[in-house]
Amino acid sequence: MSSFQAPKGVSEYFPSRSHRFEHVRDTIIESAKRSGYELIELPVFEDTELFTRGVGASTDVVRKEMYTFEDRGGRSITLRPEGTAGVMRAVIEHNLDRGQLPVKVYYSGAFFRAERPQAGRYRQFYQVGIEAIGSDDVRIDAEVIATADRALKACGLKNYRLEITSLGDAETRTRYLADLRSYISRIDIDDETRARADLNPLRIFDDKRPNVIASMEGAPYLLDYLTAESASDFEHVQNLLQSLAIEFHVNKRMVRGLDYYTGIAFEFVHTQLGAQSGIGGGGRYDGLMAQLGGQELSGVGFGMGVDRILLACEAEEIDLPEDAGLDLFIVPLGTGDRALILAESLRSQGVRVSLTFGDKNLKGGMKSADKSGARFSLVLGDDELEQGMVPLKNMVSGGIESVTLSAIASKVLLPDSVASTLIES
Ligand code: HAM
Repeated sequence: MSSFQAPKGVSEYFPSRSHRFEHVRDTIIESAKRSGYELIELPVFEDTELFTRGVGASTDVVRKEMYTFEDRGGRSITLRPEGTAGVMRAVIEHNLDRGQLPVKVYYSGAFFRAERPQAGRYRQFYQVGIEAIGSDDVRIDAEVIATADRALKACGLKNYRLEITSLGDAETRTRYLADLRSYISRIDIDDETRARADLNPLRIFDDKRPNVIASMEGAPYLLDYLTAESASDFEHVQNLLQSLAIEFHVNKRMVRGLDYYTGIAFEFVHTQLGAQSGIGGGGRYDGLMAQLGGQELSGVGFGMGVDRILLACEAEEIDLPEDAGLDLFIVPLGTGDRALILAESLRSQGVRVSLTFGDKNLKGGMKSADKSGARFSLVLGDDELEQGMVPLKNMVSGGIESVTLSAIASKVLLPDSVASTLIES
């Protein structure tokens, strides 16, 4: 046995669980596409400074969780801990914001955070995210939330809740942060925590230590400081969510772990996942583009955690695909060459086909056909091939029909219900 093992804390997917992973990921992507988001494919590593400036020097992500290294040219490189900063970098660099606005893009892939591994918390994990850049219209905030909610429902999930809050506008935050700083100056915390609070006082709410949580209990709520305009935006989004029949709870104490948020912020929380219950989150980040050297354009988006959504589906015992979705499994008797040639011809006609290789006998071959989950199977003997008629077996009903080679593709590509009536008759 090899002594190699995967690095600690990474998530890996192989059959049959990889089918379920793929289904969840593609369901979120499909929801993004339905809302008009287009693919953006970006590098998994970027200049370290993009994240220190974009995500924020006071965040746990930047302070403790980045995979940072020097490349051969002496540049500081970081494996992307999240997707929004990279999207902004690409939008600015390639002038994507000079065309039609908003720019609406989605991405899907691996992200990296050097967190302490535990169930649902990995060092390499997967997100599908969307970003809409260049519109202040809060209807987009509602669209972003609806896109995430539609994806979760399409996965079959029920036991989750949506929490929302607002971080207000610049004026809101200036007034609030002044009061919060003054509150923090009066509580008893260690020097390191105080230094962090000096960088961004909101970060103290991330602290999980009971004594810090207790000291923050009397802290003012940001929601109580919203300007009239921010309050009206927040209300507008809530009204839209109600009209869209999307349930939500206002969470006054929600703080997102990244510094760029402004305005509406939200999190989807699953009730059966224990400590790592956040299955997705996002919000508005109106200052990020300018902060990264671009023009003053606003943005809003989400990142959905594919690994955790899969865990949530499993916790809810949702029936997700378990196999490769094969249409046909061929068991060759005699010469396998002709089976491979037939399989290739069917594949070019759009049929998903697998077949046995090597010296499997009929019994072994049928066992493989059963295990494959294919909807049809075909035992391919030389005699049948000579006569041009082959026995096509419906693996669900067990019915066998003799069909010509040229009819196989159309028979197996019929929807299940039609196919089984035809075969049984
Ligand atoms: P985030 O809340 O840091 O937001 O991450 C989004 C989701 O990624 C989380 O809700 C969680 O499901 C998943 N996730 C995060 N860390 C881990 C981990 N260590 N292991 C497994 N899953 C994890 C962002 O990343 C923002 N970029 C989202 C966004 C896009 N905001 C605006 N646009």
